[in-house]
Amino acid sequence: MKETLDYIHENKQRFVDELFQLLKIASISADPAYKGEVLKCADEVAKYLKDGGADNVEVCETKGYPIVYGEKLLDPKLPTVLVYGHYDVQPPDPLELWTKPPFEPYIEKTEIHPEGAIFARGAADDKGQFFMHIKAFEAMMKTNTLPCNVKFILEGEEEVGSKSLEDFVKENTEKLSCDAILISDTHIYSNEQPTVTTGLRGLSYVEVEVEGPNRDLHSGLYGGAVPNPIHVLSRMIAGLIDENGHITIDGFYDNVETVADEERAEMNKLKDDPEHFKKSIGLNGVEGEQGYTTLERTSIRPTLDCNGIWGGYTGEGAKTVIPSKAFAKISMRLVPYQTPEEITDKFTKYFEKIAPTNVKVKVTPHHGGMPYVLPSDTKEFRAAKKAMETAFGKEVLPYRSGGSIPITAMFEEILGAKSVLMGFGLDSDAIHSPNEHYGLYNFYKGIESIPLFFANYASS
Ligand code: BES
Ligand code: MN
Ligand code: MN
Repeated sequence: MKETLDYIHENKQRFVDELFQLLKIASISADPAYKGEVLKCADEVAKYLKDGGADNVEVCETKGYPIVYGEKLLDPKLPTVLVYGHYDVQPPDPLELWTKPPFEPYIEKTEIHPEGAIFARGAADDKGQFFMHIKAFEAMMKTNTLPCNVKFILEGEEEVGSKSLEDFVKENTEKLSCDAILISDTHIYSNEQPTVTTGLRGLSYVEVEVEGPNRDLHSGLYGGAVPNPIHVLSRMIAGLIDENGHITIDGFYDNVETVADEERAEMNKLKDDPEHFKKSIGLNGVEGEQGYTTLERTSIRPTLDCNGIWGGYTGEGAKTVIPSKAFAKISMRLVPYQTPEEITDKFTKYFEKIAPTNVKVKVTPHHGGMPYVLPSDTKEFRAAKKAMETAFGKEVLPYRSGGSIPITAMFEEILGAKSVLMGFGLDSDAIHSPNEHYGLYNFYKGIESIPLFFANYASS
């Protein structure tokens, strides 16, 4: 192992320089205007895989963006680890809130990252993280220390729902067959308290529309006598959560997993520092479901949030108008054993039920995903915990995250393999937000942990 770690150390500057090249590509999957950039990014990823020593590297076409595949099969008797990541990124807007342009990476020190952090869209989610795997693989290949078979699958549609990947996995179960899946697309609790992610929430996402009058109306001539769809929609959304932080949708909690007291005690060992939490996001108070800590509210409990709301006049100056329609986007984070189909259905019925009779409502479901849990009594978890403990020199705890990576549940269903979520970001990395960044310390700890994981897993 020493030679692998030495190789990583000797090449650390080049690893960052190469990552910068990937970060310069605006691979925004949500915006068709960036199609060329997404395709270019897939080719670059394939090039790095090849240069790292992977065989049979392919840029596989799909109905959407390509999936980059590569492998190193040493011996069919050895276990196989499938590494998954995504090379697409979220749109960078609002652009004016970035200190420097989102696709011109640079390094700067921050309070949390005294060694410096890489600033760019995708730095932590997920280019900086999947790139650690390519570099760790290169280090194992160059030092002849790869202890088992490895396959890479890097997709370009994660941020828009992984539609093509689902079909690809179903059609390529043989090609993707593996014993475990390794993913770095999550975060650790802190650099002082590293963690292995043992859970992800599921997702149900809907768009709603409320229609009042059949056209926009003069607010002087009609105001006060007709339902204003913006008012109606606001009241309906506000009513979805009660004063105790409970979601009011009929049957919403029917299938929610009851987490055992022991597990709650175990997870609350992670020091939930409310002052730091509030300060980091500029709040003087938090809120949420009664009876649960912030840590629990953001991991083992389901939640509902309005992500956007619009309607009527939002341009310069004033226009006196009652709009015909108002809209909102709403996300619900799910926990075992809720399913996106069940929750979308319950939401739709409830939203139609609470609508006043003088408006029309429409609910359109978007992509969703299942929650995922990796039990801590698995060899996958133990191999990751031990690897990170060696790399960080600290005890590593399990950590259930609030985010979603729907493909993990699908991998388990279709490939029958468990996903280990060995991510190295921090919640303060501002993923999906302006000034996204990834700590250099985290980047290097990740690259060091990966060969250790392979060694632990292969010998377990
Ligand atoms: N990498 C994130 C998910 C994540 C981040 C999980 C940090 C845990 C910790 C992923 O790229 C993402 O953004 N997922 C989306 C869902 C997807 C279906 C668009 C999410 O969680 O909102
Ligand atoms: Mn991600
Ligand atoms: Mn993301």
